[in-house]
Amino acid sequence: MALTTNLELQREAQRGKYAVGAFNTSNLEITQAILEAAVECRSPVIVATSQSAIEYAGIQVLSDLIRTLARPLAIPVSLHLDHGTDYDIIVGCLRHGWTSVMIDGSHAPLEENIAMTSEIVKMAHAVGVSVEAELGRLIGIEDHISVQVDQAHLTEPEEAVRFVSETACDALAVAIGTSHGAYKFKGKPQLDFDRLKAIVQKVQTPLVLHGASSVKGEMVERGAKYGAKLSGAAGVPEEHIRKAVSLGITKVNIDTDLRLTFTTETRKFLQEHPEIFDPRKILAASRQAMKEVVKEKIELLGSAGRA
Ligand code: G3H
Ligand code: 13P
Ligand code: ZN
Repeated sequence: MALTTNLELQREAQRGKYAVGAFNTSNLEITQAILEAAVECRSPVIVATSQSAIEYAGIQVLSDLIRTLARPLAIPVSLHLDHGTDYDIIVGCLRHGWTSVMIDGSHAPLEENIAMTSEIVKMAHAVGVSVEAELGRLIGIEDHISVQVDQAHLTEPEEAVRFVSETACDALAVAIGTSHGAYKFKGKPQLDFDRLKAIVQKVQTPLVLHGASSVKGEMVERGAKYGAKLSGAAGVPEEHIRKAVSLGITKVNIDTDLRLTFTTETRKFLQEHPEIFDPRKILAASRQAMKEVVKEKIELLGSAGRA
């Protein structure tokens, strides 16, 4: 099946009241894990590449790899640029078969964010590629100064209305208290669901939740058992993800949970099989574990059986 766009997938998810998982990849094994899980669950899926993944693997290689693996599948797959900030990389993705790009102007003042998003939207729409933008900022616990300052970084519903109407973006990433990485909360995990409700009421554009890895306690403990140092790691509890989806989020971004799984299972395999030095055997173990995690996420988001 030809690749589809995030917009197609998120419009369908809005109708069906579920969310599509966007999983970050930078290599063969992660991509296989994502796509095999989606096929087994008969789920639409978004394969996401960050700019640093593109710099790591090469744009032509990632494009060929992901599109070659996705093309024969009977499920809808979108190839998405995550957190695009570099004009040349965004244009490169448009030229190399990405079907969706994110322009992340969230660090810029509002007017500047609107201007740069509008420019990318104009260019991407001309070649049939959908565009995600971000308003508000995701900040981690290391950035936190006080609760009042935190609030200032979250998405303002009224600004979101103006932003989507002036930019014509196809999806909007909102900041409601999540952050990237493995250290999201110091105390009780808290998301601003009232804010999300207000945004959903005012904005018809499909919404995206970044920083949505759960970093489960058992995952952290398992990592620690095999030597990983992850003290204080904490993510977004699954019931919060479920609630965000029930309120109207239609794309959920996951990277950290796959990274943690990869690292833990690789450590475990090496510790348990010190005689093995074939990279394929080592990587197959973590690939299988990542595939199971993607399947769990697909069930959590309600996208299983929707393809
Ligand atoms: O949102 C960020 C993603 O987790 C990608 O991170 O730039 O290290 O590939 P990365
Ligand atoms: P996590 O770090 O929570 O997996 O978030 C990933 C993400 O938002 C990618 O854009
Ligand atoms: Zn993100």
